[in-house]
Amino acid sequence: MFAKETYIARREQLRKEVGHGLILIQGNHEAPCNYTDNTYWFRQDSTFLYFFGLQREDLVGVLDCDSGVDYLFADDYDIDDIIWTGPLPAVSELAASVGVAHSGTLAQLQTLCTKTVGEARKIHYLPPYRADNIRQMSELLGLRYDAVTRYASMELIHACVRQRSVKSAEEVAEIERAIDTAYNMHVGAMKMAMPGRYEYELAGFMQGEAWKGNGPVSFPVIMTVHGETLHNHGHNHRLEAGRMLVMDAGCETPMNYCSDITRSVPVGGRFNERQRAIYDIVLAGQLEAIRIARPGVTYQQVHTEVSRILARGYKDLGILRGDVDDIVAAGAHSLLMPHGLGHMMGLDVHDMENYGQIYVGYDDETRPSDQFGLGSLRCGRRLQPGFVVTDEPGCYFIPALIDKWRAEGTHKDFINFDELEKWKDFGGIRIEDDILITDTGCRVLGKPIPKTVEEIEQTMSE
Ligand code: GLY
Ligand code: MN
Ligand code: MN
Repeated sequence: MFAKETYIARREQLRKEVGHGLILIQGNHEAPCNYTDNTYWFRQDSTFLYFFGLQREDLVGVLDCDSGVDYLFADDYDIDDIIWTGPLPAVSELAASVGVAHSGTLAQLQTLCTKTVGEARKIHYLPPYRADNIRQMSELLGLRYDAVTRYASMELIHACVRQRSVKSAEEVAEIERAIDTAYNMHVGAMKMAMPGRYEYELAGFMQGEAWKGNGPVSFPVIMTVHGETLHNHGHNHRLEAGRMLVMDAGCETPMNYCSDITRSVPVGGRFNERQRAIYDIVLAGQLEAIRIARPGVTYQQVHTEVSRILARGYKDLGILRGDVDDIVAAGAHSLLMPHGLGHMMGLDVHDMENYGQIYVGYDDETRPSDQFGLGSLRCGRRLQPGFVVTDEPGCYFIPALIDKWRAEGTHKDFINFDELEKWKDFGGIRIEDDILITDTGCRVLGKPIPKTVEEIEQTMSE
């Protein structure tokens, strides 16, 4: 945990921003895997972590904007729990550890909510994303289960986005810790990427490295020789020479700050000519984003500039044709990259996505596009110092999508479908770093992980 003053200051700011009423922040509960007592590893809710920092299950935090008083609610453990878990702090002790003077039971929370509803005071809450928290909110507020999400507070969503989007120095240091562990995950896995190995061996290694850093992975490891499937979670292929291996993986620190890194390497450690050609195009795009991302520029503009680099590269290879600006304006290049350049990252790998992506990645000024590819950009808004975003362009030869566009004649003036036929067995490449927007530009976070063709070949030969 950070010092309790951090949490006190964050809650103080939130109360001021929201201004009136009661704010309810639900922690998470244990989640059963295959029977009640066999649970998934516990993952605290990120908003709860941000404002209260506590890892225990079943906690609910309350901020009273009118009186300025904060509360922590949960039931204390009794001896029947403690014989299984060992001694645990009382809820009042947990509350005191993060500067909260008032604590109570869940029955007392119910009484407070019922009273507040009766007084017609506003109760602000975020849209719950787990069924048990939707049910809890429905009971606390006397709302129908299916009405809970609808009545989530837009004022609270916007206030949390404003606060959490700008990372403090201590948050950035935590994220860099997560990237340092990701360094061990990626460099170790690169060295294992030899013919005859199986994807699951490398994926298992990465998960082990994450836990060695004392945290879980930040999302299910993507480790695949079929990188053309963007989020391929299967790990059963044997590594064969000639395939590109996409490794998209990150971890969380014990405080749950995340990393999200992708490297793509040739099985066996040597790029062939085709692999190097595509790799260098994607890398040029990834580096262009690092060159131009800065305060005042929108990430939509950065995405578009990167798209121009990619389109120019594919045009030089004879895959695309025509004017590069026209190709990008039409969205023809998105056949090879049907996703956006990146997303915010912090306590969630897709930071705050539970609030609704549109409120995190867009605002009144910058609206999402409905164009294929650009429409999948999770963060398009104007960048500010302190934002942490991912920079993750890719190139994917997706046979089903190529066939569909060819059959429909989609962007046929810009796409050389005959040439593309030769690339349909290529797979995919993605390169991803986590960047911090600084006052004048941006900084790639963490210890540098081998990224150029030469660095990767060198690492894989060691
Ligand atoms: N790991 C998922 C992503 O890169 O967004
Ligand atoms: Mn990723
Ligand atoms: Mn990502």
